[in-house]
Amino acid sequence: MDISVVGLGKLGLCTATCFASNGHNVIGVEKNLNFVEQLQNRKCPIKETGLEELLQKSWDNLTITADIEKAVMNSDITLIIVPTPSKPDGRFTNEYLEAVLKTIGPILKKKDKFHVVDIVSTVMPGSCDKVFKPLLEESSGKVCGKDFGLVYNPEFIALGSVIHDFLNPDMVVIGASDNNSANL
Ligand SMILES: NC(=O)c1ccc[n+]([C@@H]2O[C@H](COP(=O)([O-])OP(=O)(O)OC[C@H]3O[C@@H](n4cnc5c(N)ncnc54)[C@H](O)[C@@H]3O)[C@@H](O)[C@H]2O)c1
Repeated sequence: MDISVVGLGKLGLCTATCFASNGHNVIGVEKNLNFVEQLQNRKCPIKETGLEELLQKSWDNLTITADIEKAVMNSDITLIIVPTPSKPDGRFTNEYLEAVLKTIGPILKKKDKFHVVDIVSTVMPGSCDKVFKPLLEESSGKVCGKDFGLVYNPEFIALGSVIHDFLNPDMVVIGASDNNSANL
């Protein structure tokens, strides 16, 4: 499969590496240019158990870029794994996620092929229907579930065992706008 991953931090880089290690073509997008440069030079900017070793086996399937348009255009599904820090009232903020979705919407507008947008970041219940879906529909001019897919696929893993837990999940949680997107 052709997969893009937006946000190559503690969870995103591990996720991108795990998919690449399983033979998928992965395009990783990161806005921190220091990370981009290190990864393009095949250096690992994140400390996580087993990550460096797995990266060494996966470089051939991994392209690193800061260009989100190139990543969306050349993949079937985009996993978004950007920060959602807690506010003082305990709710998660969507500001980083919304910034990414506002960029992806106009790219979906240009793309003829069906594309799935997969939110992996931790968000508050209701965010997909109330915030992300309207935002993507408005910025793409397309209909969710028909012209593009929206999926929520959160992780419940802990730092230190991200790679092991991702590759050996107790369960995988998938909420989707339509069956094709869920299956993908
Ligand atoms: N770390 C974990 O083990 C873990 C486990 C479960 C869930 N999560 C959730 O996953 C999400 C990400 O967590 P993390 O720990 O990986 O965060 P992180 O801060 O380590 O990484 C996030 C990355 O996203 C990048 N980013 C932000 N905006 C971007 C943009 N517009 N384009 C490209 N890259 C962008 C940042 O530069 C950073 O490298 C959060 O919602 C978190 O709650 C994390």
